[in-house]
Amino acid sequence: MKTENINHAFLDSVLDGSSLDVYYHFGVASDDLILAGMRDVKAVVMAGSGGRIKEFAEYWSEANGGSEIIGFPKEDRFVTRYCSGVLFASHGMGMPSASIALQELMRMVYFLKGGDLDALDEVFWTRVGTSGGVGLPGGTVVVSSEGVMADLKPYRLLHGGEGEYWFDGTFPASITSAIIEASADAPIEVVSGKTVAGNEFFLEQFRLDGAICLETHESKMAWLQWLHENGVSNIEMEGAMLAAYMNHWGFSKFAMICCTLLNRLDGDQVTSTPEQLHKFSEDSGRVLFNYLKSTLLHS
Ligand code: URA
Repeated sequence: MKTENINHAFLDSVLDGSSLDVYYHFGVASDDLILAGMRDVKAVVMAGSGGRIKEFAEYWSEANGGSEIIGFPKEDRFVTRYCSGVLFASHGMGMPSASIALQELMRMVYFLKGGDLDALDEVFWTRVGTSGGVGLPGGTVVVSSEGVMADLKPYRLLHGGEGEYWFDGTFPASITSAIIEASADAPIEVVSGKTVAGNEFFLEQFRLDGAICLETHESKMAWLQWLHENGVSNIEMEGAMLAAYMNHWGFSKFAMICCTLLNRLDGDQVTSTPEQLHKFSEDSGRVLFNYLKSTLLHS
């Protein structure tokens, strides 16, 4: 872990009791008894939708002999469940929303591990989501090798020091390979590639079907071809920030697993049937749980 990048000034004051940490968007605080049962957290699984989080927790409970599911009472922003060592939390859509969830979860897990950096580094973090494929048909599961923004550069933000702060968007290759390996026998197409995180579903993904359209067919196809030629497999809205924040603290185990809903080289609209969409989503969940079972149930 990169201890110099952890906000010890605040987080350690929570550990020594001189500050209370209010994880406001999750509706809990560091003195809340609900957290006491979660100190053994081994994995944090995030997904955009709260419904998906509830399904994931149900599945994991069954895989662990019907183990107890703990839910946080507040659900108007993010839905959270804890079950058998896995903290499941929704993050909403896009990097502004997901970064709030991720920062509060990082603070929470730091608190749960009592600031022990070795214990913290044992925790596996992942987002499971949906995406648009680039040269890949709907139904492919992409495990990201790198998260970049729409200009193929890493996540960056304005800050007070030197203007823009640039983060590292790489995902750990050993974890990406282990996730793909854990589903080698599953009848699911699982590939690895770069992932673009757009700041918008329509404009920064160069769609022609938004209420506002800034592209022509030619400029859209030129962007998509440029992504394709540069090793991009899919486009979503959170991965560049996820990899950035994980790398900033120096976590060694994190990943992103996204199914594709369509091939963007063929169009913009998601026209799959509800049954197809359900299968796509089930497949990415299956890839996640094959990995969690191989690491958490057999360790
Ligand atoms: N999610 C995205 O962000 N883009 C898509 O095209 C599909 C899902």
